[in-house]
Amino acid sequence: MANTNKHRKDNIYIETYGCQMNFSDTEIVSSILINSGFSIINTPEDADAILLNTCSVRDNAERKIHERLIHLKRYKKQNKNLVIGILGCMAERLRKNLLEEERIVDLVAGPDEFRKVPQLIEDARTGTRGIAVKLSRVETYSDIEPLRTSGVFAWLSIMRGCDNFCSYCVVPYTRGRERSRSLESVVQEIEKLRDKGFREITLLGQNVNSYKDKQSGADFADLLAASAKAAPEIRFRYMTSHPVDMSDKLIETMSEYDNICKYIHLPVQSGSNRILDLMLRGYSVEHYLGRIKKIKELMPGCSISTDIIAGFPTETEEDHKATLRVIEEVGYDGAFMFKYSPREHTKAFALEDDVPDKEKVRRLNEIIELQHKIARELNNKEIGRLHTIVAESPSKKNPLEWMGRTDTNKVVVFPSLNGTKEGDLLNVKIHGSTSATLFGEII
Ligand code: SAH
Ligand code: SF4
Ligand code: F3S
Repeated sequence: MANTNKHRKDNIYIETYGCQMNFSDTEIVSSILINSGFSIINTPEDADAILLNTCSVRDNAERKIHERLIHLKRYKKQNKNLVIGILGCMAERLRKNLLEEERIVDLVAGPDEFRKVPQLIEDARTGTRGIAVKLSRVETYSDIEPLRTSGVFAWLSIMRGCDNFCSYCVVPYTRGRERSRSLESVVQEIEKLRDKGFREITLLGQNVNSYKDKQSGADFADLLAASAKAAPEIRFRYMTSHPVDMSDKLIETMSEYDNICKYIHLPVQSGSNRILDLMLRGYSVEHYLGRIKKIKELMPGCSISTDIIAGFPTETEEDHKATLRVIEEVGYDGAFMFKYSPREHTKAFALEDDVPDKEKVRRLNEIIELQHKIARELNNKEIGRLHTIVAESPSKKNPLEWMGRTDTNKVVVFPSLNGTKEGDLLNVKIHGSTSATLFGEII
């Protein structure tokens, strides 16, 4: 009956901010909306509802959304019935304050309340502003087939939430307790994607390597092995892993399967044990470097990337230098580097944010400069090498070129052949590089 309801033909436009989990969540909420009779559209102009799937991780992520809301006022002026909604982490963190402070917002729904979004839109259409922000201990949306726009690359969310409570981080508050999907449901989804011809799957979670299937007792290494076996022709990646849970078994499993990509994102955050303690990360620099050693031993060509926070409370020049040393010692292929941003309700918020902004910026720039130099050197060594890549999309700069990724997650730009299409498996030879990109030729 749902489809005969007049309001159920509404067009919904969703904008996504933040991490891959959010992009995956947008596919889930889109699917929920379609199942309730709504349509998903790609531009805001003809939308009956505009939803922003938001991020809270740093202050500037939230500021971006407040600015976007100012922009959206003009759409509301044109169409008084337009519904504007905030989904995701910022909805969860700011809750009813969002409705009180942002008059333009009609609905607020946290990451575990996506099933209520169709009803919240209906309510808003009839003038009732609504909020749903309960966190769940069990919701994994494992019964919902995400609305995937590519037929080649898939995000697959295997767990939700985080129990680590790193002292600077809002994620455990915005996404709630950690819970894993069953191995069976993940493998079933992989089999479906395999049968549809997908080429690459990224298993997603805030801390994927603490995955635990309660029923079978399977851990992340077991899940990864089961995935690789279920679809030998698909390449598997995963994001994000935590150094504490980077077990020998996981590294061994990765090394055993050709279709598990040799790429690990392993956030270090700081190179100082004192700061790591204050961050409540649960490992020492020595433990971290031990994991890197094991990875390089078993998978010599494996590429590694990281996250780093500059200017955490009490960080001294000495601590900062220690971070630079770790960056140098590991030799990261890539890194996401951030200035510390104090977040209300986190444990670190009680510490004085005592590194002056100018100093944070200086340290961050030093980190970025060193990292770019290392990435440039590593990428330079790629010249002359052969890689198999999966064609991803036309290059943004030049329509005659395409980009794809190596097994090691490096972006390769190459002149396309007539008829190059998404998903093509291509052998390329690298002939040029920068710190962020390789340039190659199909051979
Ligand atoms: N679950 C993932 C990452 C979550 S957030 C993990 O633990 O690796 C992504 C990155 O944002 C973090 O790794 C951290 O480097 C950064 N980050 C999180 N909170 C931050 C804050 N308050 N200030 C600055 N950077 C932060
Ligand atoms: Fe945040 Fe730490 Fe959890 Fe990552 S592991 S999401 S940094 S609390
Ligand atoms: Fe941001 Fe939430 Fe992801 S805070 S980084 S969108 S988990």
